[in-house]
Amino acid sequence: MHADADPASAGRLKARWELARAAGRPFATAHLAQSLDAKVADAQGRGRWITSPQALEHAHGVRARVGAIVVGTGTVLADDAALTVRLPGEPERELPGVVAGASPVSASHRLAVRAAEGGAVVRVPAHDPFSVLTASGADHVLLEGGPTLLAAFIEADLVDELYLYVAPAFLGPGVDATAALAARPVRDPVRWSPDPAGREPERLGPDLLLHLSPAA
Ligand SMILES: NC(=O)c1ccc[n+]([C@@H]2O[C@H](COP(=O)([O-])OP(=O)(O)OC[C@H]3O[C@@H](n4cnc5c(N)ncnc54)[C@H](OP(=O)(O)O)[C@@H]3O)[C@@H](O)[C@H]2O)c1
Repeated sequence: MHADADPASAGRLKARWELARAAGRPFATAHLAQSLDAKVADAQGRGRWITSPQALEHAHGVRARVGAIVVGTGTVLADDAALTVRLPGEPERELPGVVAGASPVSASHRLAVRAAEGGAVVRVPAHDPFSVLTASGADHVLLEGGPTLLAAFIEADLVDELYLYVAPAFLGPGVDATAALAARPVRDPVRWSPDPAGREPERLGPDLLLHLSPAA
């Protein structure tokens, strides 16, 4: 576990935690695993597994700290997301899930099965990021994508911290990590900063982890 494991304990993250609380919404951590050419999935839409087992284990450590996971319908349909925490030596644990988007999800998908069995899965057909966050009922959520959902949250300034896992590999044509963001001039991009109290960038096997929060 990292020194910065508690988001309320460190620098800029502490300010974002207070901002979230004042706004009456959960603190939002985002996760993105991408190639060097900023692809989150290949040309067939396969996103698993761009990054290494070490990066995956770190991501499950992040999952273990949140109260709910938010995904868009695109990720549910493409990846059949399970939204469980899987850590060495511990039993697999389901996390409450929020599925954002209106598209139907077939009854055979794992989250649909879980919902049918009375598990904690909330569907939010609206695209409003604030409503999606508050629907979770948690005080700390993990946005696990995909890229369309993440872009909407970044545009709304509703991502408080980002774990960006970068695999040293090129995918060429594929699913862009950032295509849904609005265009901005080079002098005025959306800037992010490494948290001053964090220890990242960090090596996770062959991958690089950046731990970022929105620049103040
Ligand atoms: N490498 C990674 O870290 C990672 C993580 C997740 C996914 N992926 C990959 O990403 C791909 C899926 O990408 P995606 O962008 O389609 O997935 P997505 O972001 O999970 O889903 C997109 C859908 O989210 C819904 N949505 C909810 N709020 C929205 C908003 N404010 N604005 C726009 N749409 C909103 C819309 O659904 P409706 O049209 O149903 O309303 C939209 O079509 C797959 O290939 C998957 O493997 C990779």
